Amino acid sequence: MLPSLRSDRATRKESKIATGDNAGGSIFLARSICHTISMKTHAIVSGIRATGRLHIGNYLGALKQFVDLQNQGDNHCYFFIADLHALTTPFEPKELSQNTLEVVAEYLAAGIDPKKSTFFLQNQILEHAELAWIFNSITPLGELERMTQYKDKSEQHRTNINAGLLTYPTLMAADILIYKPIFVPVGDDQMQHLELTRVIARKFNNRFGKTFPEPKNITIKPLRIMSLTDPTRKMSKSEPNGCLFLDDSPDDINKKIKKAVTATDSKNGSAGVDNLLSMLAHFGNEDQAESFRKAAKDGNIKYSELKTVLADVVSEHFGAFRDRKKELLADKNHLAQILADGAKRAKTVASETLIEVKQKIGLI
Ligand code: ADP
Ligand code: TRP
Repeated sequence: MLPSLRSDRATRKESKIATGDNAGGSIFLARSICHTISMKTHAIVSGIRATGRLHIGNYLGALKQFVDLQNQGDNHCYFFIADLHALTTPFEPKELSQNTLEVVAEYLAAGIDPKKSTFFLQNQILEHAELAWIFNSITPLGELERMTQYKDKSEQHRTNINAGLLTYPTLMAADILIYKPIFVPVGDDQMQHLELTRVIARKFNNRFGKTFPEPKNITIKPLRIMSLTDPTRKMSKSEPNGCLFLDDSPDDINKKIKKAVTATDSKNGSAGVDNLLSMLAHFGNEDQAESFRKAAKDGNIKYSELKTVLADVVSEHFGAFRDRKKELLADKNHLAQILADGAKRAKTVASETLIEVKQKIGLI
């Protein structure tokens, strides 16, 4: 049995949020709806790039939702590691394979159960890249050029603006649509790509006949955890200094949180405090978070106290995760076996979809 992390209070609290479709295609789930969903079989697909150890933003924005959805009942979940997408930003081959294994161990340590979910590496299902090529030829260039992530990453990596950075969303659309899911859990920075996935599905269906669903995001509440060092920017692996990694030692967690930007440090301090309070609400005791929130409002919050409490709850929350990740990484053959089993299952579905697509578009 893989250890599961204890459930977050905030999930229980946020599950009271009303249900409804929003313009971005998110579905805000009330607990009753979660229950309804679990009564049926829904395909759910998501992935995370293999660009480094996962941080708390990745966990709350994506991985934790994957585990919750997996454990909800009859959802058929496809979770993978987007190693092909990791090639679009600068990488070293040795680091890529190490990062991939780390992320594999992190998915499993966080509670992804390969018996319940189809868990695999993107590059091992060749059909993803083949379908992406087909999608490239029905996707207008302008749609790709207007993507925020493409613009940001091109700015960030001026000496490596490769074609993969531009066509990133067509591969993501293929990753998703090949399993014909109705839900795709991602953090809010991936919503634009998901919207484009729906556009591609629609275009394909209009031209070649109904083939793909138009999948939606599924989220309790769109969430963005901010960088500890610059709370105006999202916590991101590309800026490791501002990240709390899931396997950081209690000592590192303590040091990083102590240095986190708060009101005393800069004009962005209140965003920094909000960020710490948001983490406390997820990992700690809601009453504590509320009393710090009230103290912040009244102007008598003790930042050092907030930081100590937060460091303790985060360290405790990920204690079992740290141990489990170490154990998993010590047995690489076991990890390879899990991935091979997952790839076999994913390939059965992916190849069926690709045959259907090829027939519809006239490829012999
Ligand atoms: P990073 O920017 O750290 O490289 P990725 O782009 O690999 O993160 O994102 C993996 C998943 O985690 C995506 O679903 C993304 O929306 C989510 N995510 C990433 N950063 C955050 C954050 N700071 N807050 C909430 N969700 C996040
Ligand atoms: N682009 C996603 C990210 O940066 C990773 C990803 C690749 C993905 N393919 C996907 C997420 C398909 C959901 C579904 O996080």
